Amino acid sequence: MDPKCIGFLYLGETHTEFTALARCLSAHGIESRLIDLTQCRSIQWDEYSLINVRECRGYHRHPDFSSKIDDLKSKLGHVPMTNSFSVIRAAIDKANYLRELELAGVDLIPTVWLKRGESITLEEIIGKTGWHDFVVKPTVSSKNWNAYRVVVNGNEIQIVKADINMSFRDIKTNNVFTDLMELCDVCVQQFMPEIFSRGELSFVFIDNEFSHAIRKTVAPNNWLAHEFFGGNNEYYQATANEISWAEHIFTKLDQKYGDFLYARIDAIPDNRRLLLLECELMVPRLFLNEGHALERYVQAMKKRLI
Ligand SMILES: Nc1ncnc2c1ncn2[C@@H]1O[C@H](COP(=O)(O)OP(=O)(O)OP(=O)(O)O)[C@@H](O)[C@H]1O
Ligand SMILES: [Mg+2]
Repeated sequence: MDPKCIGFLYLGETHTEFTALARCLSAHGIESRLIDLTQCRSIQWDEYSLINVRECRGYHRHPDFSSKIDDLKSKLGHVPMTNSFSVIRAAIDKANYLRELELAGVDLIPTVWLKRGESITLEEIIGKTGWHDFVVKPTVSSKNWNAYRVVVNGNEIQIVKADINMSFRDIKTNNVFTDLMELCDVCVQQFMPEIFSRGELSFVFIDNEFSHAIRKTVAPNNWLAHEFFGGNNEYYQATANEISWAEHIFTKLDQKYGDFLYARIDAIPDNRRLLLLECELMVPRLFLNEGHALERYVQAMKKRLI
């Protein structure tokens, strides 16, 4: 039998998990090759037994990402792509899959969906929602790109990006929001203060089954549960209730989009229940080491090789 090879599409920066993953695949006699998505014109796709898109971190900074992926669909022939094209198409935009989940009755963190160029001001949003602490983020984004927290105190407003803190005496005297609205579709979400005390929980699914959970914490003087901004990631022993909450959401995704090699469901708990923050279905970090799940992930990939 020919040795098998998996092609990992990437955009210049892989997950830190990649080296360990490639080593583990190699121990199973499977070769891993990185394929730069921006330079893949002359690739012989039929040399591959599987194409994996999960290393395409930073896709939101490549405006032609979707068209490149669409272009691949016609070229791959019988070589499978994972997660599938239909998952990728839905997962790129939170306004797509996340809004569908909300409409299907999933407990999403209260969210307002806005279209690029829509004529609405921050004051109108505050008036409409009654929120004085909320997050504004592009619907196509990752790694907190262009996400900021807005804290309103009377007529004063504080806008906090990951690393910049701006204060305005008058809500009207800033154009951070209008600039973003000119750039892209946006979602505005009520800020969940429980993230400071309880963290953000990530439920990782491998091969269509719950595998493990991770708790991400926020560093002092920050608001983002992200290791890049000083947060920690730790293994989390999820309760049976929490797992069935995540499974309920996963089932909805599974029914709609079919097979998942991997999926991650992110939630923030309030004092009563879990609320969905987002699902990472395309390029998630899976915390395979923390969840002792590397071997499980490799076995799941093996099942999908042609
Ligand atoms: N409604 C919210 N309440 C509290 N914190 C939030 C909220 N929305 C976003 N955050 C913080 O911002 C981070 C990034 O938000 P989110 O996961 O929705 O966007 P993303 O662009 O997909 O980013 P990433 O790729 O880092 O996950 C979250 O991990 C969390 O720390
Ligand atoms: Mg996230």
